[in-house]
Amino acid sequence: MSKLWGGRFTKQTNHLVEEYTASIGFDKALAEEDIQGSLAHVTMLGKCGIVPEEDAETIRQGLKKVLDKIRSGEIVYSVSDEDIHMNIEKNLLDEIGPVGGKLHTGRSRNDQVATDMHLYLRKRVVALTAMVQEVQSALITQAKDNLDTIVPGYTHLQRAQPILFAHHLMAYVSMFGRDAERLMDSYKRINILPLGAGALAGTTFPIDRHFVAEQLGFDGVYENSLDAVSDRDFIVEFLANASLIMTHLSRLSEELVLWSSTEFGFVELDDAFCTGSSIMPQKKNPDVPELVRGKTGRVYGNLMGLLTVLKSLPLAYNKDMQEDKEGMFDTVATLEGALQLFAPMIATMKVNKGRMREAVNKDFSNATDIADFLVGKGLPFRQAHEVIGKTVLYCIQNNKYLLDLTLDEFRGFSELFDERIYDVLQPEAVVNARNVYGGTATVQVAAAIERSEVKLQTA
Ligand code: ARG
Repeated sequence: MSKLWGGRFTKQTNHLVEEYTASIGFDKALAEEDIQGSLAHVTMLGKCGIVPEEDAETIRQGLKKVLDKIRSGEIVYSVSDEDIHMNIEKNLLDEIGPVGGKLHTGRSRNDQVATDMHLYLRKRVVALTAMVQEVQSALITQAKDNLDTIVPGYTHLQRAQPILFAHHLMAYVSMFGRDAERLMDSYKRINILPLGAGALAGTTFPIDRHFVAEQLGFDGVYENSLDAVSDRDFIVEFLANASLIMTHLSRLSEELVLWSSTEFGFVELDDAFCTGSSIMPQKKNPDVPELVRGKTGRVYGNLMGLLTVLKSLPLAYNKDMQEDKEGMFDTVATLEGALQLFAPMIATMKVNKGRMREAVNKDFSNATDIADFLVGKGLPFRQAHEVIGKTVLYCIQNNKYLLDLTLDEFRGFSELFDERIYDVLQPEAVVNARNVYGGTATVQVAAAIERSEVKLQTA
C-alpha cells in the first residue's frame, strides 16, 4: 500500500512495524479536531494566495465530506496510514483527487497533532469544569438540608470535636472549587495555537498564523516554533489537575464507604447507585465510590507516565510523544465517568441524622469545651487539659459520658465547675461556640454556603 511519505523508500514497511508505530487505534478520537484544524489551515492557505482560492474551496468541501463519513461511521481507517492525520488525508484524496495533496502545504504532522490536542483538551476542560461544579451544587444542596445535623468530626479517625455535617460537606465544596479554578486557569495555556511551527523551524510559505488562531478561537500563537511542537506541558498540567480532582473524589469516596457501613450507618446511598452480591443476599455494596477510589490510581499513573515520557526528551518532536494520547483520553473518560455519577449519587444520598446524633451523644468530643470552660474561669490551659483528661478517664472507667456526671462529680475534679457546664457541653453549644470565620458554628456555615452559591452562580 502506498505511503504518503513513500518517495524515499525502496521497500514496503514491515507489517509489525506498521502495527507497532500506528496510532490510529486511539488517535481517531481526534478526528473532529483534525478536520477543524485543517479547515482553518486551508482557508488561510487560500487567503494568503499559497493555494488558489478554488482549490481551497474544493479541499474544504472534501474535508466536510470526510467529516460526514466520520460522523456516520462510514469511514474506513487503515493501520498502514498510521495515524488520524494521514488517514484523513488519504480519505480526502479519495474524495477529491490530487488537489487534496495541497492541504499539507506549509504544515507538518508535528504542528498538526499538537493543534488537535489543544483543540481537544480546551473543549474537555470546559465541560469537566461544569461537571465539577455539578458535584459542588449537589454537595451544597445536601449541606443546606443538614445545617442542623451534628456529627462527630474526626482526627486520626478518632472522634475529635462535634461539627455540622453541612460543614464537613462544605469542605469538599471548597476542594472542588479549587479544582474548577485550576481547570479554568489552565485554559489560558491550552488555548494557544502551535500550527505554523511546521516540523520544527517554521515554514518557507507566507502563512498567517494569527489568522488561523483567530478562526479557531485561540487567544494567541506559540512564540517559538520548537516549543510549539515539543510542548506537552498543557497535557501534564491537565493530568495533574485531574489527579487532584480524583484525590478529592477518592477521599470523599472513602468517607462514603465508611459512612454507609453498618458500623457508622451515617448515610445510605440510593439503591440506584449501589450493587448487590451474587452470593450474599443481604449485601448492598457502594461500588461506585469504591471504583472511583480505585480508578484514582490510573489517573496518577497517566500523570507519571507522561512526565516520564517527556523527561530528557531532546527537542523537538520525537515519536515518544505519540505516547501522550492514551493517558489523556483515559483520564478524560475516567473523570467524566466519576463526576457524572457523583453529582446524582450525592444528591440522592440519605443522611441518617438520628444515627449521627447518637454518635455525638455517646462520645467525648465535647471534652475540649470543658477545658475551655475552665480556662474561662482563669485556669491555665495546660492544667485544664490535665483535669479534663482525668475526668474523661473517670468516665471511661465508670461507663459514663461527660453529660452524665453530677455537679459533685465534676467538682471533685475542679472547684471551678458550676451548673453552667451542662449548657456548655450540649452538642449545639459546642458547635456554635466555634463562631469564627470558616468555623463550624451554624451562622458561619450558613454564610459559607451562601458565599459558595454566589461564587458558583458567577463562575
Ligand atoms: N501520530 C503522531 C503523534 O501522535 C503524529 C505526529 C507524527 N510526526 C512524525 N514526525 N512522525 O505523535
